[in-house]
Amino acid sequence: MRQANGAYIQIRDLRKTYLMGKQKVHALAGITLDIPRNTFTVVMGPSGSGKSTLLYLLGGLDRPTSGQIIIDGTALDKMDENELAVYRRKKIGFIFQSFNLVQTMNALENVAFPLRFAGVPASKRRKRAVELLRQVGLENRMHHKPTELSGGQQQRVAIARALANSPDIILADEPTGNLDTASGFGIMQLLSELHRSGKTVIVVTHDPRIHTFATHSVYLLDGKVVSEAEFQAAASFAFQTASEESEPKK
Ligand SMILES: Nc1ncnc2c1ncn2[C@@H]1O[C@H](COP(=O)(O)OP(=O)(O)OP(=O)(O)O)[C@@H](O)[C@H]1O
Ligand SMILES: [Mg+2]
Repeated sequence: MRQANGAYIQIRDLRKTYLMGKQKVHALAGITLDIPRNTFTVVMGPSGSGKSTLLYLLGGLDRPTSGQIIIDGTALDKMDENELAVYRRKKIGFIFQSFNLVQTMNALENVAFPLRFAGVPASKRRKRAVELLRQVGLENRMHHKPTELSGGQQQRVAIARALANSPDIILADEPTGNLDTASGFGIMQLLSELHRSGKTVIVVTHDPRIHTFATHSVYLLDGKVVSEAEFQAAASFAFQTASEESEPKK
């Protein structure tokens, strides 16, 4: 069911509740957001605020408890499992903090891997993988396995793999979290290039340097979207409380 009007990505009163024993955890407590096409959105929030949950739901990796996500006029909740799998494969490139590469495969094989499920013949898969690894600056590391690559290089392979099926939307969950400062910045620049080439990029990060590249910012607290001012106030309160607690008792 397509709806002609509205933003490219529309999130409406999105909720995700987990049951831990008898206790309910509201990972997302009613998120409403519009994300226009070809933007670079940064999602910030303290640990446990629901950032990964939001990204997983957007990527069709999980289903919400209630509420809606409408992508390019199509509601994800109206899709059956097969349609959702096609959505994940064609529309979404997912990048994780821990790279998630297949350790027994070299860079080329890792990047070519998702193309297998798209029914691309072997010779074309290889050609496309070479092209993508070149794009992320790894033409000299095609035959290296993950253990023979630096963290930054592994994340570049993961980005190339995420791009294999030419997705419109790139979702990255703390993609620089396991990297040193310089490699992290290189990855942000690469994500920014993808944005400039026309992709819609959504990145969860704690790194304020991402604001150089971002067109939109979303702040989460306790599963809700808050303003930047509310977010800063909560952050400075948390900092104060933490430093008071760490002061020696008189
Ligand atoms: N599978 C699950 N079962 C139960 N509770 C969960 C599950 N996944 C997440 N949660 C809870 O939901 C809340 C949001 O989790 P989420 O992983 O989205 O946070 P986050 O903002 O990504 O945090 P971090 O910065 O630590 O990655 C947390 O309180 C978490 O404990
Ligand atoms: Mg997370």
